[in-house]
Formats: sequence, structure tokens, C-alpha cells
Amino acid sequence: MKETVFQAIDELYDEIINIRRYLHQHPELSFQEKKTSQYIVDYYERLGIPYQANVGGYGVVATLKGGRPGKTIALRADFDALPIQEENDVPYQSTVPGVMHACGHDGHTASLLGLAKALVKHQNDLPGTVVFLHQPAEEFAPGGAKPMIEAGVLEGVDAVFGTHLWADTPLGELHLAKGPFMAGADRFELVIKGKGGHGAIPHQTKDAIVIGAQIVNQLQTILSRRIDPLKTAVVSIGKFEAGQAFNIIAGTAKLSGTVRTFDSNVQHSIMEEMEKIIKGVCIAFDTDYEFQYFKGYPPVLNHEREADMILKNGIQVPGINRTVEIEPTMTGEDFAYYLMERPGAFFFTGAQIEGRHYPHHHPKFDIDERALLHASKALFQAYLSYQALTE
Ligand code: NI
Repeated sequence: MKETVFQAIDELYDEIINIRRYLHQHPELSFQEKKTSQYIVDYYERLGIPYQANVGGYGVVATLKGGRPGKTIALRADFDALPIQEENDVPYQSTVPGVMHACGHDGHTASLLGLAKALVKHQNDLPGTVVFLHQPAEEFAPGGAKPMIEAGVLEGVDAVFGTHLWADTPLGELHLAKGPFMAGADRFELVIKGKGGHGAIPHQTKDAIVIGAQIVNQLQTILSRRIDPLKTAVVSIGKFEAGQAFNIIAGTAKLSGTVRTFDSNVQHSIMEEMEKIIKGVCIAFDTDYEFQYFKGYPPVLNHEREADMILKNGIQVPGINRTVEIEPTMTGEDFAYYLMERPGAFFFTGAQIEGRHYPHHHPKFDIDERALLHASKALFQAYLSYQALTE
């Protein structure tokens, strides 16, 4: 039946592309995806596949029970967009000012809906049960995965798979790592509460820029001197705001940044070391501060056996000529939560437009739409491969 389903997906190419383009033109931000959610609901309604709407927010879960015995496997696609003004001059350009599908989630949704349509005709031959997880709010922590899991979407599910169309990965390739694949992504905010004053009378002030600069430098020593060099992590300060004029000493500085880790012990050490450094520097300068650390998504940890299965069997997907085991990436994904609950794996489906190098979250981000067929088929291949896994 596999070949028949692959062929059915090919026959749906135009429809899948049209879905992607429609969603691309009508993007919605995380936690506001009401119309997208309704679009998905309407699609399942037309297919006659039973579904549940508004699951843990705007989530949609559809269930297709095959005519043959087998395991229950969830396939996930996210559907939120980003606060970015699109700069692509394409017929399917976003019609919403300042909002854009700049991460390919429109394509994820189209691929999964296409797969659902291809499968519904072959329901009797299908082993096991497919659970289609359409998830909102991936881009913005606390995210959409956690509330959907809390709403019970993984009950009775044996394994879960998902893919991300990836613009840095060549078309025709599937990339993933066994074990740690994507990083845990945290955020921090720091306010230094010094004392402003005249630029020529510094001894009567507590210069927030000087104090902030010390902290920025000291924070770099966490990775170089406090964390095991064989462990991987990032501490980045992305924002440092202070000062009004050239001859005024700044009384306040606001800093924020991100921490990326693959290991909760490392994450914990970094949090502790940050607090110590900030406290220490501020004591030395007799200054108050406010430090807030927000834990974001945990790392995406692919299960060894399931990741291995995709690396071995992904090549059976028409259009895929290579699967590659890659180094983990420091980007984050709330797919992590599903993998904390069930075996499974997350992988990148190559979607690079040849000669084009705009990364995810860029105003000129785009994908090679042929990758949508690959994503759809690769998810189904993962589904069938897992059915065949014994033990
Ligand atoms: Ni994304």
C-alpha cells in the first residue's frame, strides 16, 4: 500500500501547494491562529475524518483508524507564523502586514493535510491508527505542544514523529541527530539599577554602562571556565540598552539574552553561575539589580532507535537520495515535549532553494515547495517503519 499512498500524495501536489500558499497569504501569530485552526477543521470535515478542535488552545487532532491492526502513531505539524514583514515578491506573499510564515509552518500543515487526504482512500489497507497533531504556537514559549499534551493528545499513542522543512538543508535530504538534536532555549532579562549623573563627575554615580560591560564580559567566562569543555552551550546577550547623551552617566541598563543547552545539569549550572556573577559585580559596585531567568523549551532529544530507523529507511522515500546524521543544532523546538512522553524522532526535510541562502525567520525566507511532498511521504514512511519495528 505504501507505493499507492506515495502515488496518491504525488497526485495531490497541486492541492498541497495551494494549501501552503493559502496559509502563507493568511498567516497568524502564535496563540492567535483562530482562522488557520478553522481551516484545518474544515479540511478534516470535508475528508470525513473524525477530529477534535480547540485542543489545548487552537490545536486540532484528527484520528484515522486503519482497517488492519497496528500501533497508534502521532504525526505532528505546527501552524503559527512570525511577527516579520515579508520581503518576498511572490504571488503568494503574505496579505497580513507585519506577519509572515517565515519558518515553513505553512508547509508543515499542507504536507500533513495532504497525507491525511491521501490516506483516507486507503483506510482499509492501513495498519494501525494515525493521529494527526496540528499544533499552534510553536514559535512562542510556553508554546502549543505542552497544553496539547496536557489535554491528552498522547493518550493511547505509541510513538510520535515530526519534521521541519529546513531551508539550509539541500532538497532531497533528510537530516537528524540521534539523541540531542535541538537545544533547550531559555531567555533572561537583567536590569542594572545604578545611579546616573554628570559625565564629568563619575565618582558621584553608579555607572550602569560600566557595570553592564563588566557583567557581559564576565558572563563569557561561564562557558570558558565553569562548564566542562566537552559539554555544549551558548550564552548570548542580544540586547544592551542604556544611556541618553554623551555627557550623562547612565543610571540604568537593560540587558537580555538567551541560553541554549542540551543537558539540564548544564542549564542549572549556567543559571547559578549567572546569578553569582551578576550579584558579585553588582556588590562590587554597590548597585542593585533585577535578574529574571525564563526557562523555555527543553532540548529535543531524539530516541536512538527511532532516529536510527529514519536514518536507515528515509532513503526509501521517493525524492530522498540521502539521509544524514548531523551534529545537534542550537535552535529550539517544542517538539521536545512530545519526545519526553513517547518514543519518536524529529527530523529536517531538505527544502533549500538552490542558490538561495535566507535563513529561517528572515523576511526573505522561502522553501522549495517540492519538499512538501518529501515531508508528507517521509512522515508516512516513518509511520510504516515504526509499524514494522518489533520488540
Ligand atoms: Ni519552525
